[in-house]
Amino acid sequence: MAIKNSSFVFGVSVSDYNFIGREQESRQLKLNFEEGVNTIIISPRRWGKTSLVQHVRKMISPDVITVYVDIFGCKSEYEFYNTLVEALLKQTASTMQLWMDNARDFLARLSPKISFAPEPTSEFSVALGITQKTHTPEEVLNLAESIAEKKGKRIVICIDEFQQIGEWSDSISMQKKLRSIWQHQKMVSYCLFGSKKHMMSDIFQNKKMPLYQFGDLIFLPKIPKEKWVDYIVSHFAERQRTISDNLAGQICDFVDGYSSYVQQLAWHVFSLIDEGDIVTDEHIQYAMDNLMGSCELLFLEQTNPLTEYQMNFLRAISAGVQTGYGDAEIRTEYNLGSASNIPRLKTALIKADLIESDGNKFQITDPVFACWFKKRFMN
Ligand SMILES: Nc1ncnc2c1ncn2[C@@H]1O[C@H](COP(=O)(O)OP(=O)(O)O)[C@@H](O)[C@H]1O
Ligand SMILES: [Mg+2]
Repeated sequence: MAIKNSSFVFGVSVSDYNFIGREQESRQLKLNFEEGVNTIIISPRRWGKTSLVQHVRKMISPDVITVYVDIFGCKSEYEFYNTLVEALLKQTASTMQLWMDNARDFLARLSPKISFAPEPTSEFSVALGITQKTHTPEEVLNLAESIAEKKGKRIVICIDEFQQIGEWSDSISMQKKLRSIWQHQKMVSYCLFGSKKHMMSDIFQNKKMPLYQFGDLIFLPKIPKEKWVDYIVSHFAERQRTISDNLAGQICDFVDGYSSYVQQLAWHVFSLIDEGDIVTDEHIQYAMDNLMGSCELLFLEQTNPLTEYQMNFLRAISAGVQTGYGDAEIRTEYNLGSASNIPRLKTALIKADLIESDGNKFQITDPVFACWFKKRFMN
């Protein structure tokens, strides 16, 4: 018996049956990959960066090798090098044996020291055992170029959760090294993507930063509502359930078109009904409450550490105040403290990824958080 596709998927990257839209971005990205143009992709979490990059990797000409590496778990420069080299060796070798040979070759050739086991206490003794003592950053970062030359194929290295590097100590000097080496590579290009707009924008759009204008910058947009409506209606229909265009549109609107939440809310609605049933307004309302319920613990973890002023600032944004927080009237109405307090409140909440600004206007980053916050703290 054939395994059925899941109707709706969230929380992991999606493909095929669960992947929609992104035609224009896929085309652009494919071209960049094949022509060796460095690319930076920025969007809030769970809008679809990883899914898009994985989608494009499948479309690429066989003359180009793509390497995918997720650095979310990396806490330092050398952890990053170990993760990067492991991905590079594994994903450019055609067999397991070959990658082990390559690894041994690379690790030993550059450093006979590696034959001694790395000290267990050393903070760098991860995976391949690449450390400051065994390899310079230059050696590590040039490995891709030499593999590409050897194979006579272009390599694109896709680095997911790239915003992490902004968190490491000495991050700027590390970024300088990356730029100075990467910019001379002829056979290797990079696709760097991540969330936390403030962090990613600071790395790539701040003139003072080493990776300023390193590549083609894509701000990933939302998937258009019509696409979601088609997707939801057809996926219900394939399981003998009926939802109107209008109610499918409401699912999308309730979560402000935020990709993973559209799928998650659609799934909550789907699970309320049986074959042959028709979705009603009440189902959607009920499912939205369920969705908020399932996120509640996480949201509480985010609001618990906030100060009274920070909570009040969120209240102001929630009430629709998007700008002018420094005005005496608004400060009094929402109890925001002194005018000099305002920039601090903004910085703290942006850093916590709870709010974001486009230009001067502020809004709550996560639409389900926004609904939940209103319901819980605004009555
Ligand atoms: N192109 C897409 N089509 C359908 N759903 C998508 C798409 N992109 C993202 N999603 C939804 O968003 C979720 C998160 O996607 P992901 O690619 O992991 O986002 P990101 O890498 O930006 O955090 C997926 O599990 C899926 O529910
Ligand atoms: Mg991702």
